[in-house]
Amino acid sequence: MIISSPDDYREAARRKLPPFLFHYIDGGAYAEQTLKRNVEDFRAVALRQRVLQDMSALSVETKLFDETLRLPVILAPVGLTGMYARRGEVQAAKAAASRGVPFTLSTVSVCPIEEVAPAIDRPMWFQLYVLRDRGFMKSALERAKATGVKTLVFTVDMPVPGARYRDAHSGMSGPNASFRRLLQAATHPAWAWDVGLNGRPHDLGNVSRYLGKATGLADYIGWLGANFDPSISWRDLQWIRDSWDGPMIIKGVLDPKDARDAVAFGADGIVVSNHGGRQLDGVLSSVRALPPIAEAVRGDIRILLDSGVRNGLDIVRAIALGADAVMIGRPFVYALAAGGQAAVANLLDLMEKEMRVAMTLTGAKSIADLGPHIAV
Ligand code: GLV
Repeated sequence: MIISSPDDYREAARRKLPPFLFHYIDGGAYAEQTLKRNVEDFRAVALRQRVLQDMSALSVETKLFDETLRLPVILAPVGLTGMYARRGEVQAAKAAASRGVPFTLSTVSVCPIEEVAPAIDRPMWFQLYVLRDRGFMKSALERAKATGVKTLVFTVDMPVPGARYRDAHSGMSGPNASFRRLLQAATHPAWAWDVGLNGRPHDLGNVSRYLGKATGLADYIGWLGANFDPSISWRDLQWIRDSWDGPMIIKGVLDPKDARDAVAFGADGIVVSNHGGRQLDGVLSSVRALPPIAEAVRGDIRILLDSGVRNGLDIVRAIALGADAVMIGRPFVYALAAGGQAAVANLLDLMEKEMRVAMTLTGAKSIADLGPHIAV
């Protein structure tokens, strides 16, 4: 299939993947209203064109927490990425490193920290939930530190998991799920060979190392369900802030009040995010939530955004409206499923090209030049 735009990878992934995996990454919570709005609201932000501004010297590079990013993009933490391509987290991390941007390993990755971190030549970021099992959190932090992780991302919008109704229909969960997954694998031979047979173990690498026993796909849902904690509050993060020297980022902020609380807590960054429309359906799209948050905390904390970024124009829009950088989740997983490391690297190249065209035609020579004046 011909890949000319970032969006093409979604269709390529749909063809290659067993449906339970495609729908798990593609779907959102409940009626998927927020999932749709995330994308539509980005497209609704018009850019203001400028011409004849001598745009020969243009840079998309940026600095974030003492790191140089070749473009203002970070690969977001996505659980089970290693089910989308053989040892998928390693491939995605290598692609990110080759393009000079950070990769964030999810707590519930297939490949463990110790497999991914040494595979790349820049420190990876690590994502954690605030979980009931403090022993797990402590050991995960120690392991992350031991492998050179400096930047932590705390996902705080999951005190309860949102219902993803597609999953029950697709075979990700629901009746006879493991039998249905097996049938789907049998009818998707390219995936079955690459990941089903050669991508083993299909484990939650970080969790099974801690538990000292293998954890399968069924345990994923069970372990997460048993470990989410509706009682969590800022207090539960304090011990980590007190002991962690590196940057701490709070992911899942949609309200200016929470953004201010993150500043008061001593966080270094926030991610304006509705978890890709996978948690509370009906909340604001991230791009609409961004401007009042930027007004409240810009300058006091670094602002990242995810949920709805699909191409380079969206990156430019997000930065114009107040973000310092964006995280991408689905777009890189679609690319990874379609073509592994090379496809993720190509996706980043496509996004960079799109950014450069958008910046040339809006008269912005650098990331610092992007501001609300280019979005109308
Ligand atoms: C986990 O964070 C998910 O959105 O599935």
